[in-house]
Amino acid sequence: MELPEETEPCKEGDHGKFEVTDRDGWARIGILHTSTDMLDTPTLLPVVNPNILTVKPSEMWDMGFRGLITNSYVIWKHEKLKEHALSRGVHDLLDYPGVIMTDSGTFQQYIYGDVEVGEVEVVEFQRNIGVDIATMMDVFGRPDMSFEELAEAVAETARRGPAALEAAGATLLNGPIQGGTHSVLREASARLMSGMDFAVHPIGGIVPLMENQRYRELVEIIVSSKNGLTPERPVHLFGCGHPMLFPICIALGVDLFDSAAYALFAKDNRLLTPTGTVKLDGLKEWPEDSWVLRNTTPKKVREMADDERHTLLARHNLAVTNSEIHRCRQAVRDGEIWHLVEKRSHCNPYLREATVWLYDNLPDELVHNTVACRVGGVQWSQDLPRQPRVARAKRWMTWRPPHVDHLGRDCDVEDRRLLVFHNRQGPWRETIGHQVLEAVRRWPQLVPLIYTPIGIVPFSLEDLNPFAHTFGPNHLWDLTADVGPLLLDHPNPEIIEQVENLYPVEVPIGNIIFHDANAPLETLFEVLEQSIGPADQDVMENSTIADVQDYFRRWGIADKIAIFTHLQYGAYHPAIPELEFVMSRTGRVNNVLHDGVHLFSQRLTDGGLSLTIDGAKWVHERGTNDELEWNPSMMPSVIVNSDAEPFVRQGRSVMHGFIVGTEGEPQTGTPCLVLNEAGELLGHGIARCDYTDMMAFRKGIAVKVKDGVGDAGD
Ligand code: GUN
Repeated sequence: MELPEETEPCKEGDHGKFEVTDRDGWARIGILHTSTDMLDTPTLLPVVNPNILTVKPSEMWDMGFRGLITNSYVIWKHEKLKEHALSRGVHDLLDYPGVIMTDSGTFQQYIYGDVEVGEVEVVEFQRNIGVDIATMMDVFGRPDMSFEELAEAVAETARRGPAALEAAGATLLNGPIQGGTHSVLREASARLMSGMDFAVHPIGGIVPLMENQRYRELVEIIVSSKNGLTPERPVHLFGCGHPMLFPICIALGVDLFDSAAYALFAKDNRLLTPTGTVKLDGLKEWPEDSWVLRNTTPKKVREMADDERHTLLARHNLAVTNSEIHRCRQAVRDGEIWHLVEKRSHCNPYLREATVWLYDNLPDELVHNTVACRVGGVQWSQDLPRQPRVARAKRWMTWRPPHVDHLGRDCDVEDRRLLVFHNRQGPWRETIGHQVLEAVRRWPQLVPLIYTPIGIVPFSLEDLNPFAHTFGPNHLWDLTADVGPLLLDHPNPEIIEQVENLYPVEVPIGNIIFHDANAPLETLFEVLEQSIGPADQDVMENSTIADVQDYFRRWGIADKIAIFTHLQYGAYHPAIPELEFVMSRTGRVNNVLHDGVHLFSQRLTDGGLSLTIDGAKWVHERGTNDELEWNPSMMPSVIVNSDAEPFVRQGRSVMHGFIVGTEGEPQTGTPCLVLNEAGELLGHGIARCDYTDMMAFRKGIAVKVKDGVGDAGD
């Protein structure tokens, strides 16, 4: 069969490789390279029963489905299908040009108790009919089985792996994960299957859970499977196809779905929507639009003959499914997948339960790989404070107050008083800047902090996304909105905990002052006088507002050096008084220079700090200088082999496959240095994945290099 022009077979050497082009936490946008086509993920493979084609595969292709799944056992059992598939291939049998995955008969074994085909025979058959991705005969682990039985299903599936892989030859093979609802078994199964050369890992045995809406257990299963899986292979969820579940599953790193839901629901006269299913009976209007239903009405569809109606509803269900997949993909790219998770969680109580469980049990690794600081507004929502991005922002924001006050006098962190402003939205340099400067000028031991609905942030980092760019109604910034003004004297333990987490040393509660930023300046002075004592007149005479302003500017940059380079305080603080600034037209620091050399640029859009190549050299030198008496930590670094060295020196990105190691745990979206094996700096850039993915993946960009140091002799 002629493949239409749109299919793009993989390049030689890329067969079976999975490339990830965008990530958000565990969610990923990828490409699975197969010999038929490059399959964009996440995607759904509609289940095609070769005996009952409710919607023809060629029509699915036209609708945009680049892959489908069918059952090799069904083909094997039916002589006519078998003969056709063996002689002309499965693509010809189904009249479908895209990627074809086949299942092995495991599901039939689960439903009927037995199958006639042998475990190795069914894999050989799949290879012989030319499928793109075959499936070994795994042992279906039912959730009602005992722990011992499930452990045996896991072990037996793994035992069958080597023979199945041999029978598959060059054909890509699915290595399913079993283990019922036991996290230990799922994780063990994932580790066992990851140890073999499978191309894709489906998570199996979940259909009975889906049928009973046991979504919390589904989520637990995905998390524990992911914990044991090697990251560079796509993860498939066997038998999950309700669009309502896509966002949460995709947020947890599922790349492939398959489902017969589109046809099964159609047969039951039900329509899929991204928020649930709707019965055709009784409908006067369409609750969910699709191009399929555009020229008809529920009444007309009810009056159709059964077959015609089922096909039409199946088409609609496919269209809705596809558009939800696209919505999810775009949400991953936009960093919005968790907002979609939240929205969908409100569609179904069991899904809400699963989502809340997930917030309570967010995997550390997922949080670490979430990019906290990026351009754009952050819409407040009920779940926002619990979402991975906010959890990440709080952990990532390392901070310590300077060891000197604005007059350059030593000032122990223990002696500081913390002044938490609340009840004002940003930009705080404009809304509360005046109060902060006036107060600190009088009481130099003050450390101003800002209360935001996603956490407390130091005033020196007032422009940092996401804290600075969260938007929502004013009352969210008001600490007393729920509990009244008394809170200011008896602060909520949660708020105290936040301050304690942020501040590097234990602070006596009496040293924390909460203040309504809408009160007049005189009130602030009264409060400070009462709790600290009169303002220091000497200090007043010896400093100006401009001194205080310069102090915050300088130490704000210091805070950002710590956050964006991971250098320890001792490695950069001596340079802070020597920094020079080039200011923007609006009076913010644009470029940061040291000894006349431009080291950093402040990103005015998200409050981040970008390194120049000289900045990378400065950081590298400070992070590795043995002569310094302090113990500087190293900026996260990626070490490449000699093949990659000349390319990185020229500013070309680091590709997977050329990395020999990492230092300081680079994380997705964060700046890193690129070094050779001798530890010499080659360039710097932004990590596209974390350090485990860096080593595991074989294709794609690992570090988007921003600049290289030039050729060795330059
Ligand atoms: N289809 C639905 N669940 C499963 C499973 O656990 N294994 C296989 N092979 N196919 C499935």
